[in-house]
Amino acid sequence: MGSANRGNWASRLGFILAAAGSAIGLGNIWRFPYVTGKSGGGLFYLTYTVCVIVVGLPIMVAEVLLGRATQSSPIVAFRELSSRRSPWIGVGWMGVITGFLILSYYSVVAGWTVHYVVLAVRNSFVGQSADAIGALFGELVASPGANVGYHALFMGMTVLVVLGGVSAGIERWSRILMPALFLMLIGLMAYCFFLPGFGDAAAFVFAPHTTSFDASSVLKALGQAFYSLSLGMGAMLTYGSYLSRDTGIPKSSVWVAVLDSAIATLASLVVFPITFSFGMQAEAGPGLIFKSIPIAFSQMTGGYLLSIVFFVLIVFAALTSSISLQEVVTSSFIDLFGWGRRKVCLRTGAIIFVFGVPSALLGSEGFFGAGLQKLTGKNFFDWVDYITANWMLPLGGLLIAIFTGFVLERSLREEEFRRGTTWGAVYSVWLPLLRYVVPLAVAVVFAQSSGLLKLFGIDWGS
Ligand code: TRP
Repeated sequence: MGSANRGNWASRLGFILAAAGSAIGLGNIWRFPYVTGKSGGGLFYLTYTVCVIVVGLPIMVAEVLLGRATQSSPIVAFRELSSRRSPWIGVGWMGVITGFLILSYYSVVAGWTVHYVVLAVRNSFVGQSADAIGALFGELVASPGANVGYHALFMGMTVLVVLGGVSAGIERWSRILMPALFLMLIGLMAYCFFLPGFGDAAAFVFAPHTTSFDASSVLKALGQAFYSLSLGMGAMLTYGSYLSRDTGIPKSSVWVAVLDSAIATLASLVVFPITFSFGMQAEAGPGLIFKSIPIAFSQMTGGYLLSIVFFVLIVFAALTSSISLQEVVTSSFIDLFGWGRRKVCLRTGAIIFVFGVPSALLGSEGFFGAGLQKLTGKNFFDWVDYITANWMLPLGGLLIAIFTGFVLERSLREEEFRRGTTWGAVYSVWLPLLRYVVPLAVAVVFAQSSGLLKLFGIDWGS
């Protein structure tokens, strides 16, 4: 099965860091704090953590297992494990499409972080007021030229890395960048610990109060878990396919989830103390980190250098994620059509760029920005984010869980789970979670958010 020369991770640690590199990205540092802020804090945090443990982890194990078993990209993996005409191949296709869509707007946000590197280098933060720093973000979002330009630049960087092949490149980068990001965040959190708003921030994140938490927040928590762990579209499957057959799966998956949650938590404990100390709103939305974090740097000794380092690290965190999105698209097309990596990368990268342009126009007065916003309450960017994270990823995860839990041949499933790990006994916990808890959780959340439950007279809120 699979084609030769696909490359392999050099070690188990290499896989963990690369998978963590995919998981840890803008989802942790940009998306998690602002979604938590909008959804009311503590209770959201708790719901999110439960989603990671009982829904996310079982699916991650399933994805890595399917990839390691077939040593193939998603579409081919489903074909090999079912049959040539099987509808399950559609799950692979949906994954490729979802990856395509996510990358198209992910690159826009990553472009903002590149812009913030430039601002940091130009010394635009030090000594500035909170209002002046907030205005910088407004200017960026309202400028179509800058948005499209940075989006192009970031897509170019992504394609460049994936062009060079994955294993050695990603693994080597991840080994340096992930620990560096971790240290930076710890250092920043130590600084934020002494801000007057730290206590309020910790209470906001950890105390399970119910302000602005409703049933739709559960959908968002589930969506965020899928998004942050890179689940539901075959990214972990693809990374699992570069794993040697004898490397164990469950323990590595737990590591990835723990690292991912740790970074999201740290990011919140940096963002919210600043938010509260400087009188900003936790519900500020997608601009939250861009308006808050530079304020800390503006006042800190050494803020100039640190702000550069920090935004460079976020760019790299985004890059280790975006390459996993691009890699799913790339490896699928290589396996399917037998095209060369170069041709696939350049073509798909260009198409993804073009599709991302409407998202890059989010702050404009035109149709894709203000127009759609007025009509539907969401601009194009918001729509792509909403549909992929809250609907497509959970749906993909649900189908992956059902396939692995019920369709995959029993002996193959169990043997694959147990090979290479000392945690074989966990199989009897994993399987029921995958078979019953995951489908139930996703189904209930879908029924609620599609308004189906209302038909039966059950209403949990908006
Ligand atoms: N997990 C990444 C983040 O938190 C984003 C990401 C990378 C992703 N690959 C993915 C999300 C695959 C969903 C699916 O930033």
